[in-house]
Amino acid sequence: MNKVIFMRNQTHSPQIKDFNLVIFGGNGDLSKRKIIPALFHRYADGQLKVDFEIYSISRSPQDRAEFLAEIQKFLGKVDSKKVEAFFKHLVILEIPKNNAENYAEMKKHLEANPNRQAIFYFSVPSGAFSEICTALKETGLSKNDSKVVLEKPLGHSLKSSEEINDIIMSAFEERQVFRIDHYLGKETVQNLMVLRFANHLFERAWNAENIENIQITVAESLGVEKRAGYYDKTGALLDMIQNHLLQLLCLIAMEPPSSLDPDTVRNEKQKVLESLRPFTKETLETDIVRGQYTRGASTGKKLNSYLEDIDAYDSETETFVALKTYIDNWRWKNTPIYFRTGKRMKKRYSDIVINFKELPHNIFQDSQHPLRNKLIIRLQPEERIELVQLSKIPGPGGYRFKPISLKLDFIDSFKDRMPDAYERLLMDVIRGNQTLFMRYDELAAAWQWIESITNHWKKSTPLKLYESGTWGPGDDIMEEGTQWKTSPK
Ligand code: BG6
Repeated sequence: MNKVIFMRNQTHSPQIKDFNLVIFGGNGDLSKRKIIPALFHRYADGQLKVDFEIYSISRSPQDRAEFLAEIQKFLGKVDSKKVEAFFKHLVILEIPKNNAENYAEMKKHLEANPNRQAIFYFSVPSGAFSEICTALKETGLSKNDSKVVLEKPLGHSLKSSEEINDIIMSAFEERQVFRIDHYLGKETVQNLMVLRFANHLFERAWNAENIENIQITVAESLGVEKRAGYYDKTGALLDMIQNHLLQLLCLIAMEPPSSLDPDTVRNEKQKVLESLRPFTKETLETDIVRGQYTRGASTGKKLNSYLEDIDAYDSETETFVALKTYIDNWRWKNTPIYFRTGKRMKKRYSDIVINFKELPHNIFQDSQHPLRNKLIIRLQPEERIELVQLSKIPGPGGYRFKPISLKLDFIDSFKDRMPDAYERLLMDVIRGNQTLFMRYDELAAAWQWIESITNHWKKSTPLKLYESGTWGPGDDIMEEGTQWKTSPK
């Protein structure tokens, strides 16, 4: 049997401490779909053997039976006895207004078990953060060992993100703050760290000398669905690139950290963000494209346009962005990094492609294929790592060869259920390990680079329309001879 090696964060005890998790926005979609189910699965797997309670805070009255039935829809096929036992840990509290007076009952509950650490999950728009923080401070509930979990969007510009951060810092310290980017909890994304830093093979070739370009695609087949209000104010650049794609890039491009200590890892990620080449007036015309979906069709089904989906006559909001950028440091000098993300694309399909350079000398003169490798890290729909290499076609005669893939399918190698990103992230919050959470200076560096785009792009980068169910206008920014690798049928 293969030996399983556990990698532990040496500076953070993996011990799980007793906790009270207070979810503001407890009857919201995220809470019912992700947060509570993630905790259930950890509980069902026997990982939550501590004393804990989950408080779902809502503004309006919430019928308990209805609430539990809704959560149950997102648990999948599970043992009903375990569900029943888990639900005993769930308390629903109605708090119509965030102020000290209304927090009295919550305070009574939380203080009944002083040994439990308090974790406050802000699953509400950032406009409500200020009132919540003030009420927590006034009631003395934000203590030295409390934690706060924040969901994006944390602002829409550097300035607004600073304002939100100031509010949070009025009640908590940075060591207590967990800014979630759920992409960092995805298994294949975490595996990026292991791939790079636990294998000898790749790290030696992981630089501009050997890599031609890096492509990151996060394509979604769905449109904006029921989030028109939020999405139309946000757009693809802020919804996806400012956070998820930049975080993926950090893990791919950062220098090897000296340990898994949270700040050591985050220092390296921050250096990547600070080294991103800002866009200029010229590159905004050539190296970035923004698009918006129009009507189209997919598997015989007619699809609406974005304007129809948001029920508006006019909107300049982009549902697609592709761009080319660079990391200006020694390791990545002049290596193009391509990002592409969009809604209503042909398929839900996300991957990171590392395109290696052509070999310096070709001894196979008859070869019809350029001699180059590709490493593909597929995040969705299936989780897989694929190394494309050239191999000889069996048979006598000359050397004929073709690219074949060495594939590691996670589902084959690790047969168990793939945990949802929130399971890992919530356990890290409970343990107090911030490695997979964004520090504020990382966020600020990301905003600074994003502002080199948003400050001028409405003038310099015209909106292009693309048909729903296609791959969008991403080819417009590719250098001659370079293509997007991803175009599955
Ligand atoms: C969210 C965005 O952060 O990520 C959504 O707000 C997007 O617009 C979603 O659909 C994609 O997440 P996943 O895990 O389905 O790739």
